[in-house]
Amino acid sequence: MSPPFSAALLRWFDKHGRHDLPWQHPRTPYRVWLAEIMLQQTQVQTVIPYYQRFLERFPGLSDLASATMDEVLSQWAGLGYYSRARNLHRCAQLCMEKHEGSLPNDQALLEALPGIGRSTAAAIRAQAYGERAAILDGNVKRVLSRFHGIDRWPGLTEVNAQLWTLAEEHTPHERIVDYTQAIMDLGASVCRRRQPSCEACPLTDGCQARQLGRQAEWPARAPRKTRPERHALLLWARDSRGRSLLQRRPPTGIWGGLWSLPELSLAAADAPTEVDLSIWYHELGIQALESKALPNFHHDFSHFRLHIHPLQVLVKEGGSLAEDTSGWFSPEELEAIGLPRPIARLLRTGS
Ligand code: ADE
Repeated sequence: MSPPFSAALLRWFDKHGRHDLPWQHPRTPYRVWLAEIMLQQTQVQTVIPYYQRFLERFPGLSDLASATMDEVLSQWAGLGYYSRARNLHRCAQLCMEKHEGSLPNDQALLEALPGIGRSTAAAIRAQAYGERAAILDGNVKRVLSRFHGIDRWPGLTEVNAQLWTLAEEHTPHERIVDYTQAIMDLGASVCRRRQPSCEACPLTDGCQARQLGRQAEWPARAPRKTRPERHALLLWARDSRGRSLLQRRPPTGIWGGLWSLPELSLAAADAPTEVDLSIWYHELGIQALESKALPNFHHDFSHFRLHIHPLQVLVKEGGSLAEDTSGWFSPEELEAIGLPRPIARLLRTGS
């Protein structure tokens, strides 16, 4: 599969790729490594001035290794993700101690160094040593997901493995330095996340996303995490005059400051015991005459799903209550206060 893909990409790179990036001239392992670390979370245009200043201050690996952490951090200041700077410093020291003062030309040895993962190790091998090594950074994942029409999120182990296989298959045996730069450049400038320039893309003929018009969907987003589930019993106590008992919720948290029905957290969907209920009724100052479970329903908050188990209870006329945090409200009065939506619906319709 590799020749048409890589050949088209390389032809495009010769005309439209970036050939004057500072880490390309000269392309030493130290300079390539430094660039790859800076570029892990930062865009090329932001990186360039930092890169140049950093190299003036630390022209070689030994200069970096012998600097203090503070000196390194002060040169890094503004680039963000400071663990990168700490790893960089530690990595330089390890290369001095263990690898004769240079970055090793070996995938496993590189990956064993702090801050260097599989793709960064491969980028260093390809760019600094001209070795055939496949890279798979965010840009490359996007290009390959679209080209091959990969429907599932690249963060899934199997999808990630599939993308690595494809990345390896496409990696050519010649011009590896240019190919590595080319696929990153294509992802950054043409196959952009939003509004890709498909008309300028050398891979458009074989691209599934282009053919199906699904560029915006691929790469697929991370699936939403399933929300934790909670259960609560909501007590809808009504007295003989048709008034409902409400409590004001604490000012912070869910439905903060709104009036709502008294709520009892349940460990699971289990019904509360008679004892639990009688203690609760006592605290609320009510005496239940009749009770009826209404149909359960759920409400989704951003970080959990609340299963609501409403219990409608007819009570003897309510006693006196702390008026600022609880009270008896007639149907007309209910219209005038702030109620959470699911509660307002329950009080209106009984479901
Ligand atoms: N992102 C990561 N490495 C890069 C490189 N060498 N050129 C451009 N963008 C990159």
